[in-house]
Amino acid sequence: KNRITWQREKGRGSRSNWKNSMEDIWFCTKSDTYTFNVDHVKMRKKVWAPYTKGGKPKDWEQTKTGNFRDTYPSNFWNDITIPFWSMAENTAHPTQKPEKLIAKLVLASSNKGDIILDPFLGSGTTSVVAQKLGRNYIGIEQNERYATWTEKRLESALTDSSIQGYRQQIFWDRNVQETQKR
Ligand SMILES: C[S@@+](CC[C@H](N)C(=O)[O-])C[C@H]1O[C@@H](n2cnc3c(N)ncnc32)[C@H](O)[C@@H]1O
Repeated sequence: KNRITWQREKGRGSRSNWKNSMEDIWFCTKSDTYTFNVDHVKMRKKVWAPYTKGGKPKDWEQTKTGNFRDTYPSNFWNDITIPFWSMAENTAHPTQKPEKLIAKLVLASSNKGDIILDPFLGSGTTSVVAQKLGRNYIGIEQNERYATWTEKRLESALTDSSIQGYRQQIFWDRNVQETQKR
């Protein structure tokens, strides 16, 4: 249906060509009947040049902490970083995906109570996000050490279901203080 480009910001430096800091995500469905909850994956963006009509904000909201607009997501995702070492979700897995990234996919393409399958689970991100968002999960991972990290993360998720960058059922743009209240 779509090719999504995720600009993951950090990339392996290269002196002979442009460093690669993007990844493809392919959105595929088995048939023309499928789940796509676009209203569950809206993004809150800061408005830098607010447009007014009749002196009133057009499609944005004025708050004490700035002007914001909630938008439908496109297939270019530039609001999500890889899990940096300082982030609570970070493990030592070499290719760990951010919870915020998986949360977008899970929220858009499934409903509460559905089963999410990840046959290459790694550090467990997909199962952890599924649990945090009220889905069931099946994860397969060949490396026992990574599977142990998953178990640990799943246990922590029982008491902390927060997902960095996703709050009040909205995805916050990168570098926008999440603590800002509307
Ligand atoms: C790209 S990583 C997944 C990272 C994961 N999304 C995360 O956030 O941590 C792919 C994982 O698949 C596992 N893997 C590769 N081949 C496998 C296989 N045949 N069966 C089970 N796991 C496999 C690797 O050990 C690796 O941890």
